[in-house]
Order: sequence, then C-alpha cells, then structure tokens
Amino acid sequence: MKITISVLKADIGSIGGHIKPSQKVMEAVRSYVDSQARNLLIDYYLSSTGDDIAILCTHTKGANHPDIHRLAWEAFLAGTEIAKKSGLYGAGQDLLKDAFSGNVKGMGPAVAELEIEERENEAFIFFAADKTDPGAYNLPFYLAFADPMYCSGLILSSRMSQGFKFKVMDVGYVEKNKTIELNVPEDLYDLATLLRDAEKYVIESIYSRATGHQAVAISTQRLHNIAGKYTGKDDPVALVRTQGEFPATGEILAPFNIGHYVAGFMRGSHIGPLMPCRLNTTISYFDGPPVVTGAAFSMKEGKLTEPADVFDHPYWDAVRLDVARKATEIRRQGFCGASMLPYSELEYGGVVEKLQQLEKRFVISD
Ligand code: F6R
Ligand code: MG
Ligand code: MG
Repeated sequence: MKITISVLKADIGSIGGHIKPSQKVMEAVRSYVDSQARNLLIDYYLSSTGDDIAILCTHTKGANHPDIHRLAWEAFLAGTEIAKKSGLYGAGQDLLKDAFSGNVKGMGPAVAELEIEERENEAFIFFAADKTDPGAYNLPFYLAFADPMYCSGLILSSRMSQGFKFKVMDVGYVEKNKTIELNVPEDLYDLATLLRDAEKYVIESIYSRATGHQAVAISTQRLHNIAGKYTGKDDPVALVRTQGEFPATGEILAPFNIGHYVAGFMRGSHIGPLMPCRLNTTISYFDGPPVVTGAAFSMKEGKLTEPADVFDHPYWDAVRLDVARKATEIRRQGFCGASMLPYSELEYGGVVEKLQQLEKRFVISD
C-alpha cells in the first residue's frame, strides 16, 4: 500500500523565551489537526522539541500535497492566535508569509516527506532537532549509511553491501533547488568532501541501491534564505526508515553518541555539541545546547503505533553527561575563534554594523 509520511514543523512561540510551547498552544494545534483529520489523514502524532511544534501525519495524497500543507499551515495559524493572546515569546515567528499558496516550503515551516510502498512491518524514526540547522544530520547519517565502523550491516547484510545513494543539496543556492547524487561506497570521498561543509551542503535524501527505495528525507529549508535576515535557526526534522534493506534502528542511533559540534546554540550564531535527548525536551543552557529527539514508530496501513523514545535509555544518560561537558568546554572560550560561527553565518546583523563603523576608524600607515 502506498503511504505518505509527512512531518511539518514550526516555531510559533514559546514560554519564557525560547524554552517550549505552552500547553494551550499545543491544544490549539491539536484541535485544528483533529478537526481535519477525518477527511485528510490516516493518522497523526503531535510533539514538541525545544520551542518547535511538529505535526507528523500519514495519508495517501503523496508528497507536497496542498491539502496536507494547508492543514499544517492553518493549524500553526490557530496555534499562533493563542500564542499571541498569551503573550508567548516569538509568537508566529516561523510563519514568514501572509497568504498560503499551496505549499509551505519557502514560507517558514520545515518539511520532510516520504512517499513509500509500505512494508509488511514498516519501522521508521522521526527525528527533530532544535537550536541547529539541517547540516546537523550530515555526520550521523553519513556514518550510519556509509561507514562500516558504525553500521555493521554494510558488511554483514548482502542487500546493504550494495550501498546507498545520497542526494545532497547546495543550500547556499537560493534561486532553485540545486542537488547532486552520489553513490557509496564508490563516491565516498566526494561525499565526505561535500558533507564537510555542513552549512552549504546538506543531505536531502538517501536511497537503498539494492531496491531503489527511499530511506531518508530531511528538511532542507533555511529561514535565513527565505526572510533575508535572522528569524531563528532552521531546526531540522528527518524521517528515517529502518531495518531490513536499511540500517537497523540501533545502527542509525549509534553515531549520535558522538555529540558532534554543530552550528546553532545561542542566537543561532555559535558552535555547540548535539545532545540526544528524551522526547519533549526543552531548551536551557545558553539557549541550548542543540538538541535532537527521536520517536520510533511501527506502522500498518498508515496507522501509527505509540512512539518509542529512542534516547530514553540509561546508555544515553552517560552520553548526555559527556555532551554537557563538551558544551561547557567550548563555551569557556566565549566569542573567540571556533566557538562562534564565521562572519558569513552569523545570524545577527550587529557584528556587521559594528565592523562598518570601526572600518572608518582604521588608520593606514607604512
Ligand atoms: C536561537 C534563538 C535564541 C534567540 C535569543 C535572543 O534560535 O532563537 O537563541 O536568538 O534568545 O532572542 P531575541 O533576539 O529575540 O531576544
Ligand atoms: Mg526552534
Ligand atoms: Mg526558535
């Protein structure tokens, strides 16, 4: 049976700064989605990660369907109304355009969609990250789909040994979508060359070469490119099918124990380690650290089970301690060098204005 899994995510306001959305806002979004679900959806799951709300839903309409995108847009508008009434911070901040025109891409919300032929026992993980951008998934998914040091299936399973196809987007190119397809293992070094620069080259999707089936979809929207100025970090979502022809759930999770350094953190302008957290985790230290949550599902004819919280295990408590230590360590050097993003990626204009002022005071001499 052909099923589409869509996840649409937006920051429409939160309590006490950028910590988490309020219960009232969550209820407003839920009640709107619920009112439309009977006609449009097979199932849905609503969640928050940091200050972002994600609507995960299943249906038979295919990717980029205006009815599904409209449903999410209007649910976020309903939530925004309550956020404004309650005085939440940044109410409606990711809804960058006034009128809906058929697709939320380019309007602020992040979107990832998988249109699949559902397997007998379909298993997938929905990841949501806050205080970072889409390049945050480059390293973990490269390791999970291309490196046998992390994914033993690449040498133990004959289907997986045929490798995977990565579709990578140049998110610096704003006029249209600019993508490249690379096959691993043979294009491994070319892939690594691109993924090294996670602010420019971002994994958009991954496919099994044995079956051609899509394994991964990642939101690649960059708010900065849409609004032309800082309006919040892009906080990417990802859908990853697991098991059988794809890496096992545990192989997908394994690289998240690195707590690798990503762009984001305070004011979207720093570098911090990505902390794997329990579902519904909020934001704290230095508006961070950047967090990622994972909800694993099984699905039958589009009906979802309850989520299994993939980072809710004693193992990840130990990882979190280590990542907290990494976060404190890089913060010790404040604004200096590698702890703050380079000039081109700074999300606030203040530095640019200051440099323009200071330029006038420079003196040129021999
Ligand atoms: C990061 C983020 C926060 C804000 C920071 C300052 O995505 O949203 O770190 O940038 O709290 O917010 P303003 O400038 O609104 O006071
Ligand atoms: Mg956010
Ligand atoms: Mg935000």
